[in-house]
Amino acid sequence: MNEKALGQILEWLSDAGISDIIADVNSIPVEIKKEVMTLSALKEMISRVDTPLRNCAINMVFGVGNEKADILLLGEAPGVEEDRQGIPFVGQSGRLLDKILAAVGLDRTKVYITNILPWRPPGNRTPTNQEIEQFRPYVLKHISLINPKVIICLGGTAAKALLQTSQGIMQLRGKWTRIDEISAKIIPTFHPAYLLRSPSQKMEAWLDFLNAIHWLENSGT
Ligand code: URA
Repeated sequence: MNEKALGQILEWLSDAGISDIIADVNSIPVEIKKEVMTLSALKEMISRVDTPLRNCAINMVFGVGNEKADILLLGEAPGVEEDRQGIPFVGQSGRLLDKILAAVGLDRTKVYITNILPWRPPGNRTPTNQEIEQFRPYVLKHISLINPKVIICLGGTAAKALLQTSQGIMQLRGKWTRIDEISAKIIPTFHPAYLLRSPSQKMEAWLDFLNAIHWLENSGT
């Protein structure tokens, strides 16, 4: 496929995918807004959050990558390997994520990566609604400190948490949306762990990443 044809397809996907989802306003608590002006201050503040998750985990997993990146990747929560190393996406899912990034001409020096939860839920269970609610304000602050132009939500949990929607990833993926609290455009895609189980869907994820890059290249900023 030549570049022009690919560009047209991506434009079509982008146009067709604009969503009307508008999340409820759930503003950052005043104390986070006022006190925290840097990533290290935010990290310090999160390390003091009162949560039982901390008791079961080895390390807090904050964020990694380019702090001035235009693209922020938002995952769900650390797994075993991330917990061990204290770095997001360094296990099996992370290796696939690196391949996806390479396939679209990116790497970890060009994006920023973080998760909804900074600690591994016991047994890798899905984050509870209460945990998501507790950490969402910190995620919003984290995003605002990086100030990306595009957020790619990796998987349904990250997408649902950020967008505050009950829609599943099958409905959300590939559709651009925004929320009131941040200026970045948001595009959900499949989680690498899901792609490991369903490799036939890799093409969709690849297209979502290309869609994000295409938008960035044409956003005129
Ligand atoms: N899965 C996630 O959602 N995040 C990680 O950091 C690792 C696996």
